[in-house]
Amino acid sequence: MSTIAAEYVMRISPVIPVLTVPDVAHAAPLASALVAGGLRVLEVTLRTPDALQVVREMAAACPDAVIGAGTVLNADALKRAVDAGARFIVSPGLTKAVARAAEAAGVPLLAGVATATDIMRGLDLGLTRFKFFPAETSGGAPAIAAFAGPFGEVAFCPTGGVTLDNAPRYLGMKNVLCVGGSWICSKDAVEAGDWARITALSKGAAALARAAAG
Ligand code: 3PG
Repeated sequence: MSTIAAEYVMRISPVIPVLTVPDVAHAAPLASALVAGGLRVLEVTLRTPDALQVVREMAAACPDAVIGAGTVLNADALKRAVDAGARFIVSPGLTKAVARAAEAAGVPLLAGVATATDIMRGLDLGLTRFKFFPAETSGGAPAIAAFAGPFGEVAFCPTGGVTLDNAPRYLGMKNVLCVGGSWICSKDAVEAGDWARITALSKGAAALARAAAG
């Protein structure tokens, strides 16, 4: 069940922006600017004190967007994120506790994997859709191509070092459903309140084509 839901989330947009938002006042305009550019699956990292409030405010401002929580490191954080309205969960790694908590909460999970062993642990937990993290330093596109052999049913969201320039290489792979990245959320633009710039970055990302679209 969580596999189908995770796949649904991954297929909505080619890019999931990874958003670290220290100032809650930026939540609504940032989400609106991203959605206006065409990206409507947004990952809010739990790396700032008010991240859960950012999730709430983005969800309220953009009811058509799918707001999720990232940097979810344990079951307790997952529960708090779901209570705040997160509709999917992203974790940099894979633990049984987080996978079980996601299952119990009925929320799709993109757990981070970087090796064949990680993927096998995920398969044992019923997962077939993963974040591939950190993508660029874990072998990049060639590693994902190599995983296609033994893990034919598995698909990835590469994240970590992904940019507008290298995203097309990932998105051209059949076992990549989307990519994640922070480049769409330019820190300077957010701090300056330059929402037009954020919308332009979102548009550029939303226009990326993917082989696994459909
Ligand atoms: C993440 O938090 O998932 C990644 O660190 C985002 O990576 P990036 O900043 O290299 O896009």
